[in-house]
Amino acid sequence: MVTGGAQGIGRAIASRLSDAGATVVIGDLRDPDDGASWLELDVTSQDSVQGFVAAVVAENGSLDIVVNNAGIMFEQDFETHPAESWNQMMAVNLTGPFLVSRAASPHLKASQHGAIVNVGSIEGFSRNPDHVAYSASKAGVHGLTGALAVDLGPFGVRCNAVAPGWIDTELNASYVDSHPNRDEVVRQLATLHPVGRIGAPSDVGDVVVWLAGDESGFVTGQVITVDGGRLSRPPLPPIMGDGSAD
Ligand SMILES: NC(=O)c1ccc[n+]([C@@H]2O[C@H](COP(=O)([O-])OP(=O)(O)OC[C@H]3O[C@@H](n4cnc5c(N)ncnc54)[C@H](O)[C@@H]3O)[C@@H](O)[C@H]2O)c1
Repeated sequence: MVTGGAQGIGRAIASRLSDAGATVVIGDLRDPDDGASWLELDVTSQDSVQGFVAAVVAENGSLDIVVNNAGIMFEQDFETHPAESWNQMMAVNLTGPFLVSRAASPHLKASQHGAIVNVGSIEGFSRNPDHVAYSASKAGVHGLTGALAVDLGPFGVRCNAVAPGWIDTELNASYVDSHPNRDEVVRQLATLHPVGRIGAPSDVGDVVVWLAGDESGFVTGQVITVDGGRLSRPPLPPIMGDGSAD
């Protein structure tokens, strides 16, 4: 099962898992509208999560892989940050993976290949301004990943996470598209990455497939950064020839 799989990174994860031979069910607030197998899911609702997991198992007989991908992101000044929007960010990004993993756990324990893959973020490690709730939620996802690896490991269930960098999806396209010099933004974004480009949803999907499969059977509790090397290069001033902002 892939939460938030109707579009963006989740859709690519679902496609890559399907290519690798998995039977995939997308759980999302909305239908992907492309024929992919989908059931309605709100990861913030315990009832919705319980019903979704029960329906997936009833339909397919078993459950081997859970990908906690559903997430939201918005910017908010810290001192005026309403508690309501903080709680909403936590509900989707952090409590959602907790609820889904908890409901799926008995089925994953019964599987010979139980694996959870959470979608964190490089913002769980390093932060942009006005991303207080998002950064905290993603650092929480990274912590949840290690905790589930410890608690579920004795039952044969692994738990890892990916921490994507800048990936070309609707979640951040609005930032790029709203800039008056959009093409220059795209060019400068690419220069922030040692590999010379921003990421595609499939870049994340490929790593998730590996973490979800038996080839990574001795890997658990890890957060794998998928960012084209962006976090590996601390910025230098452009005048020193860093090249990341010129
Ligand atoms: N795009 C990036 O650059 C980037 C970078 C790092 C991490 N991420 C993370 O990757 C994940 C996917 O991001 P994306 O860019 O594909 O976002 P997106 O906005 O394109 O897609 C998110 C999906 O989650 C679904 N969703 C939202 N709330 C939900 C809920 N309560 N229950 C069920 N589904 C819900 C949406 O309907 C949507 O289909 C998120 O967790 C995000 O934080 C994205």
